[in-house]
Amino acid sequence: MMQRFSSLITILALAIASFALTSASPLPPPQAHEPTLLTIDELKAAANGSCPTQTSGELLACEDALPYINDAINKYKLVTRGQRAAYISTMLFESGHLRFNHNLVNPTQGTRSMLPQENLQRFVDANSDVQKIVATYPASKLVVDILIESRLDFQPGAWWTVSGPGCPDRAATLDGSSNNFLLWEIECIGGGIETLEQRTALFGLAYQSIH
Ligand SMILES: *[C@@H]1O[C@H](CO)[C@@H](O)[C@H](O)[C@H]1NC(C)=O
Repeated sequence: MMQRFSSLITILALAIASFALTSASPLPPPQAHEPTLLTIDELKAAANGSCPTQTSGELLACEDALPYINDAINKYKLVTRGQRAAYISTMLFESGHLRFNHNLVNPTQGTRSMLPQENLQRFVDANSDVQKIVATYPASKLVVDILIESRLDFQPGAWWTVSGPGCPDRAATLDGSSNNFLLWEIECIGGGIETLEQRTALFGLAYQSIH
């Protein structure tokens, strides 16, 4: 009798313990340091229905770009929706919706990488894994072309968005508001005053399109 009573107590204690455990630890909240990745529908919506439908020449279908975009978002920890929208919309602006590898005016600037040559070099200098890949190319080769050929051209823009000079503080405030986007654009990207209206419109659409 004593034996049965004590095992009943044990079972009750275990039941209470496990109840306490479940009630004390609800589902963990979404981790603030794990970025939410894009779905293909979100990318297409952010691109305003202007995604190239096939990959050919410099054109990249959104389906083919998506894994690189998500890798970059994950690697450089674009943890807020505002940061992801700023990165995606700026890249869509610079690349003409994924249509060009090189900037039409300045061909040493990559479009998906968003940055002119000296800033692409800063990206390389700040990332030892990329440096190792770049070191396997001849010194005469342009950084922009190395990044495109090694399919690293989606990464510099994501890195710069949150880690470039003048960017972290502004990136921390990106929250969907046009004003905060404009401050980030001017102080971190500096894409030119005449482009601000279009960039802000693209940002607003990207922010609405993703989560
Ligand atoms: C999206 O496309 C529509 C129709 O072409 C256009 O009117 C609108 O301005 C575009 N939106 C953005 C943010 O580019």
